[in-house]
Amino acid sequence: MAYRRVEIPAAELARQRELCFEIRARLEASGKRPLALVDTYGCQQNEADSEELRGYMELMGYGFTDDENEADLIVVNTCAIREHAEMRVLGNVGALVHAKAKNPDLLVAVCGCMVQQPHMAEKLKKSFRVVDLVFGPHELWRFPELYKRARDTRRRVFMAEPSEGVVAEGLPVRRSGNVKAWLSIMYGCNNFCTYCIVPYVRGRERSRRFDDVVAEARSLVEAGYKDITLLGQNVNSYGKDLDEGRDFSDLIRAINDIPGDFLIRFMTSHPRDATEKLFRTMAGCEKCARHIHLPVQSGSDRILSEMNRHYGRSKYLEEVRLARDLMPDLVLTTDIIVGFPGETEEDFADTMSLIEEVRYDAMFTFIFSPRAGTKAAAMPDPAPREVKQRRFDALVGRANEISAEKHREYIGTRQRVLVDGATGKSPWNLSARTNGGRLVHLAGGEELIGRFVYADITDGNTWALYGVPSEK
Ligand code: 5AD
Ligand code: SF4
Repeated sequence: MAYRRVEIPAAELARQRELCFEIRARLEASGKRPLALVDTYGCQQNEADSEELRGYMELMGYGFTDDENEADLIVVNTCAIREHAEMRVLGNVGALVHAKAKNPDLLVAVCGCMVQQPHMAEKLKKSFRVVDLVFGPHELWRFPELYKRARDTRRRVFMAEPSEGVVAEGLPVRRSGNVKAWLSIMYGCNNFCTYCIVPYVRGRERSRRFDDVVAEARSLVEAGYKDITLLGQNVNSYGKDLDEGRDFSDLIRAINDIPGDFLIRFMTSHPRDATEKLFRTMAGCEKCARHIHLPVQSGSDRILSEMNRHYGRSKYLEEVRLARDLMPDLVLTTDIIVGFPGETEEDFADTMSLIEEVRYDAMFTFIFSPRAGTKAAAMPDPAPREVKQRRFDALVGRANEISAEKHREYIGTRQRVLVDGATGKSPWNLSARTNGGRLVHLAGGEELIGRFVYADITDGNTWALYGVPSEK
């Protein structure tokens, strides 16, 4: 497929920064420190995008609030993956009329995947007068310019042009914490799974340059971050669109070579491209977390083929076997869609037997949601909602039992965990993660936040482990 990679020139990005300072001077002249609120839906990629938006806002002189009645600028960063996500967004955007009534100067922007669909941009234009500015994921790099246009003209601005995708390096970032950091290594997706909207809204796969990613990882480590998650819709195809001759495994190895005590995580992996080289690299890199999120989607070969996944059940199980042989302590998580068009009881039974065979540590389960413009949305789908719900409930029930069984196996063990925050709930007042990413509620002092400590695990259920700090 012909694909044009659009790198935003440094001069353009410098112009956006200058605009930030211009906006800041104007806001300062008004005397009051303005406040912004960024409301994020969807995946980690969206979280990472919101951190860049906050980076721009910080340069513009904004402080931050969680209270929409206090905000002068609200940006809703949306997701389009399922109808449910869109309904939540529309409900919450509609409710902003109250905040706007109190503060007519409030600027409301909606961005992200949902608005990149023309019918959704149209809906916002027609039925949500409260919205002043709409921009798609490909326009994020020029948020300052779009903001200024909306403010200066006092006209509504809609900017969600179709695009195969841009790469913008060096945007300002305001990260949400100082222990864990997101690091986007690539954008977009080429897979066209028949149910999925992502390639349509986020464009074709494009990788950031190897040296740019490694340099950002190094600066994160130097800034004290202890847990770095490499993000991409399909990280295993990192580098295929570049002429650099380096792949995802090479990237992990290069980041692993950065001096310091930190963990490398990544998501998401497509089973089609998860190779033996990747598992061997993970096993050989001591900083690489022993966790892989490997979405299987279904246990039925027939459904996998209808989904255009390019692997079958046996290839998937073979990968799992190989990964576990190389890393016996590997934590394995997955996504599963129930009720894909045409899914029969037999297909569903294949999914149930697959989860028994793999025994995932955690599963994310979804009922199929037709997305306009995707192939699956046009497939005959005779199963009634009740049937899908019944299958979904059965799957979730069993998945939860398996997670609880796996978590109970930790009881009595000592785990090295990274303490990442306070919960405010006694006695389990800290939250921490094992190397494999399992949540641990820890009874300990807040001085441990940001540190790797050892924890004796005393309990475990479907959702989490419980423990107390211990000596090594
Ligand atoms: N309906 C239901 N679930 C979906 N996912 C993606 N598209 C859809 C859809 N149309 C799920 C997949 C994917 C996860 C992020 O969301 O399981 O891995
Ligand atoms: Fe939602 Fe997918 Fe967009 Fe992430 S990439 S925000 S999951 S539609």
